[in-house]
Amino acid sequence: MEDLAPRPGDLEPIETASRDEIAALQLERLRWSLAHAYANSPFYRAHFDAAGVHPDDLRTLDDLAKFPFTTKAHLRETYPFGMFAAPREKIVRLHASSGTTGKPTVVGYTAADIETWAGLVARSIRASGGRPGDMVHVAYGYGLFTGGLGAHYGAERLGCTVVPVSGGMTERQVTLIEDFRPRIIMVTPSYMLSILDEYRRRGLDPRRSSLAIGIFGAEPWTNAMRREIEQAFDMHAVDIYGLSEVMGPGVANECVETKDGLHIWEDHFYPEIIDPETGRVLPDGAPGELVFTTLTKEGLPIIRYRTRDLTRLLPGTARSMRRMEKVTGRSDDMIILRGVNLFPTQIEEQILRVKGLAPHFQIELTREGRMDEMTVHVEALPEAASDEARAAAEAELRHHIRSVIGVGARVNVGAPGTAARSEGKARRVVDKRPKG
Ligand code: DLL
Repeated sequence: MEDLAPRPGDLEPIETASRDEIAALQLERLRWSLAHAYANSPFYRAHFDAAGVHPDDLRTLDDLAKFPFTTKAHLRETYPFGMFAAPREKIVRLHASSGTTGKPTVVGYTAADIETWAGLVARSIRASGGRPGDMVHVAYGYGLFTGGLGAHYGAERLGCTVVPVSGGMTERQVTLIEDFRPRIIMVTPSYMLSILDEYRRRGLDPRRSSLAIGIFGAEPWTNAMRREIEQAFDMHAVDIYGLSEVMGPGVANECVETKDGLHIWEDHFYPEIIDPETGRVLPDGAPGELVFTTLTKEGLPIIRYRTRDLTRLLPGTARSMRRMEKVTGRSDDMIILRGVNLFPTQIEEQILRVKGLAPHFQIELTREGRMDEMTVHVEALPEAASDEARAAAEAELRHHIRSVIGVGARVNVGAPGTAARSEGKARRVVDKRPKG
């Protein structure tokens, strides 16, 4: 794989600024953001008043802890535009995330917000090893989801040639990659695996594809999956993180030269880690729930938004801005099985240890009598599809799950092609347990 470390002069000055400079900028911007939210969003005025705080109460960055959290429920209650801090006519773009229950949450951007977002995605692509002139194949979904358009504007901003394919139609994805020869692909990691399948189905060698960099996010994925994809395509695989409520893709991104967690673009987003039970702010290094405050957003400033994503804050390395560790999962996705807490990413790691298994999987939860049962549905690779090989893979995966995670699981190794495929965000858990 190519050495893609940035050249001197490639970086924006803030990316290598001192911590003091970053903190000073954050304090100035945080003051602005709180005052803007309070003055222009009736929701925030009422929310701060109810908590007995005023933007003037913020003198240091730590004072942010006095302010109340914002949650998805607040966005739902103010559906569709009630949290906005700019008049609707100044909003040039809307996005929405499809809630699993009830109404979607709607987010809005002013022209300046779109500028900022494009700039941060451009910075993210550059951190991933992208350069002006590269061709970028965007297979994140276009539409209300922020993935496609977010990636698109950022790639254009960096000066790349964008191929706006969107998700789905996997055969066409491969045809376009083979014909146009992009250097970069932006897609969910689970959909990259479907693209890999299509390469193999056609008898094409993915290692000979033009792809040198994959910028993967929108769902949790493990370092084991990184190795799997890097090996399969002979490419760099880097992690991009974001959420629509805060902006979209490009809130944080890994640097290709270190691949050691995601640098949070702290000049625009102030991160905190809290104890999800008590709401108390935890020191850097401690695991907990990630909370974000936007520092520059006009349309929808978000103050102390509880992401439900679980991670830790780490010091900067390739850039001075702090890193977040790869997200293990969302608190909503945590499976509690007979007293053991686990995340789908832990199952992913164990599947990737078993030689004869393909990396596609889905977890099914059922209740039999009073007992919860977990069945891991996976599939055999074509070269390991005999009954004996499948039985051996089943036994091996069961053993790994029991010995590493500490729970008994059922494992079902299907024939090649039988496990659920992703075209965007993979649905890892199907919970068939009775509610309530
Ligand atoms: O998924 C934005 C995005 C698009 C990020 C493309 C990266 C690439 P939402 O649909 O609002 O926005 O979903 C946000 O997805 O709270 C996490 O739970 C999860 N997520 C996003 N990126 C990652 C990642 C987009 N790199 C939710 N690792 C977030 C783990 C991620 N989880």
